[in-house]
Amino acid sequence: MKIIAIDGPSGSGKGTIAKAVAKKLNYTYIDTGAMYRCVALKTIRENIDPSEEDKIVDLLKNMDIKLDSDWHVFMDGEDVSEAIRSTEVTNKVYKVSPIADLREVMRQKQREFAKNNNIVMEGRDITTEVFPDADYKFYLDASVEERARRRQAQNEEKGIESNLEDVKKSIEQRDYDDIHRPVGALTRTDEQIYIDSSNMTIDEVIDKIMSIVGE
Ligand code: DC
Repeated sequence: MKIIAIDGPSGSGKGTIAKAVAKKLNYTYIDTGAMYRCVALKTIRENIDPSEEDKIVDLLKNMDIKLDSDWHVFMDGEDVSEAIRSTEVTNKVYKVSPIADLREVMRQKQREFAKNNNIVMEGRDITTEVFPDADYKFYLDASVEERARRRQAQNEEKGIESNLEDVKKSIEQRDYDDIHRPVGALTRTDEQIYIDSSNMTIDEVIDKIMSIVGE
């Protein structure tokens, strides 16, 4: 089975690009951030504190996560595609994702997806810890300013009011959290193909990846 792994910071466009590449190649797209978000959603619903690490790991062990080809996310059969994108979940997920034992169980679940499918998987530790031997490993980046501009534009489209400086600060905080996690930190390595999309359109990034992986 072929594996294309894409890591990068929040707002770098990984999701959009990984989905498009998966579609062109007819591979399965796996958003690992969505998997961590499912755990965060369940800790909120069950009122579990991030310090209760064993309970959180058990939640994941007993959780069935399915990602379908229309990009829906199902947690124990329930469509949580919208619920996992709430601000409450976004804030909580940064507290649960550093738990080392949780990441170990998560990695096993993520590797299961590649047993019977060609996959494009995106996240923070896919090229380094989940699939260090992936067929292709990419690090997709963009400047903080450009990522803030993109997030602000998305907010405007959705009719959400936001301030560019605040958006920038929140991106910087997420970068800090992603880079400084004791396990599963976002890391750049010599083995990744590095793409800085700051001055590229989405199509240009997709074309660049396709020119490398194209069959
Ligand atoms: O990509 P995203 O914003 O949906 O990710 C949600 C959260 O999950 C964010 O806190 C980073 C974390 N994450 C992680 O720790 N490891 C991954 N492979 C993917 C996401």
